[in-house]
Amino acid sequence: MNKQLNDLLEIAKKASNNAYAPYSLFKIGAALLTESGEIFTGCNIENASFSLTICAERVAIFKAISNNNLKFSALAIYVQSDKAFPPCGACRQVINEFSKDLNIIYGNNKQTIITNINKLLPDSFSL
Ligand code: THU
Repeated sequence: MNKQLNDLLEIAKKASNNAYAPYSLFKIGAALLTESGEIFTGCNIENASFSLTICAERVAIFKAISNNNLKFSALAIYVQSDKAFPPCGACRQVINEFSKDLNIIYGNNKQTIITNINKLLPDSFSL
């Protein structure tokens, strides 16, 4: 599993090059592996009206959903920064909508952290 997650992080790293982040300068890429084996990538896309910005993770998830892939097995998030960041709260809630047990790897060129949505969003809200 770890090899698969590290490979997915490499794909997220490539996707981070497509980030449109002229305001924060945080270029983030995501790669989402579906249960059927497909990979959907995303990057953050910012806007001069800041609140319209969308995170890399949600771009990848929405691409998968809109292509009729609702079952995910892993998500990788790569940031071009000295510090690695886990997904934000909004993205955690969106992940939780589709998977309560998603493996997540996040990192940069110095460190990688492997975790799970059930650790990042305990006692989650679901209907
Ligand atoms: N960002 C992501 O792409 N994913 C996250 O989980 C947190 C934040 C982006 C949004 C914005 O373009 C930049 O990082 C700084 O917040």
